[in-house]
Amino acid sequence: MKIAVLPGDGIGTEIVAEAIKVLKVLDLPFEMETALVGGAAYEAHGHPLPESTLKLAQASDAVLFGAVGDWKYDTLDRPLRPEQAILGLRKNMGLFANFRPAICYKQLVDASSLKPELVSGLDILIIRELTGDIYFGQPRGRRIATDGHFPGADEAFDTMRYSRPEIERIAHVAFQAAMKRDKRVTSVDKANVLETFQFWKDIVSEVGLQYPEVTLDHMYVDNAAMQLVRAPKRFDVVVTGNMFGDILSDAAAMLTGSIGMLPSASLNSKNQGLYEPSHGSAPDIAGKGIANPLATILSASMMLRFSLNQVAAADRIEVAVSKVLDSGLRTTDIWSEGTTRVGTADMGDAVVAALAK
Ligand code: IPM
Ligand code: MG
Repeated sequence: MKIAVLPGDGIGTEIVAEAIKVLKVLDLPFEMETALVGGAAYEAHGHPLPESTLKLAQASDAVLFGAVGDWKYDTLDRPLRPEQAILGLRKNMGLFANFRPAICYKQLVDASSLKPELVSGLDILIIRELTGDIYFGQPRGRRIATDGHFPGADEAFDTMRYSRPEIERIAHVAFQAAMKRDKRVTSVDKANVLETFQFWKDIVSEVGLQYPEVTLDHMYVDNAAMQLVRAPKRFDVVVTGNMFGDILSDAAAMLTGSIGMLPSASLNSKNQGLYEPSHGSAPDIAGKGIANPLATILSASMMLRFSLNQVAAADRIEVAVSKVLDSGLRTTDIWSEGTTRVGTADMGDAVVAALAK
């Protein structure tokens, strides 16, 4: 089982280190190789996704990814910015299916910004299409200057597009996921305004006919944003495009108490996957040893489950995380009165200790 480890920038290195600790105590035959990505790779090699990093990722069964980005790169020419690394990995590896579960752990109900009764027992799966939409539209607005600004330009543009096969395959992923859950899919679109999303809606409906056991409903994205904070438990599986999925998954994350808890998986048709926390590189807290490593540790668990076929080990990690939360240990992002505040490494150590029990 070959794992490419790409810690990236900011808190990425700190949280990935904790996930590695956890993977190591499982005593499974992993071969792990680390490479630079994002701003760190730009500093060393002049490119956020060096050829060697991409090759390593492509040659691995799974990629464990930290996070990329820092405000200090905001003025770089766009192809050189750290975010291009993750977009490049997704596109080059064909990682079209992004799973972003939003689960509210019972121990963290009070950490949510919503009333406990709205989020207790929450278990939503957002499935975001990851290699199409306006993120990869062609042609794109051309940058006129290389300093991050557009002096003298009159317009900029990005095109939104989806092809039929792109929508069909993500729709199948969503319906199949729903079959293993509560058998409900909500497809989120903006069909009232955008042709791309009328097309999306039509095709998702068509695919839905092949899954008669699954209840499909359609929702406009603005309403979906509202329903997510009004009555989030009405959702089971949410399937949507790349940009709406980006936005809604951050909103859904907060329902669970902290984005620091949420893992994600991005899969291609060969079940090769990239696993990363749903949160970013958080440069404001980088190097302080206070970031929550649980999203990354849970991403490693998703990796074991989806790409490496080690379901028992994945279950063990999830149980260990739950035990640690039971014991009252909390990083700053999920801390509340009456619990014990710990740092990044202590949290990782606690998961390792819980695994040993
Ligand atoms: C995410 C991030 C990325 C995205 C950025 C870093 C390019 O926000 O994974 O949600 O927009 O997809
Ligand atoms: Mg995002």
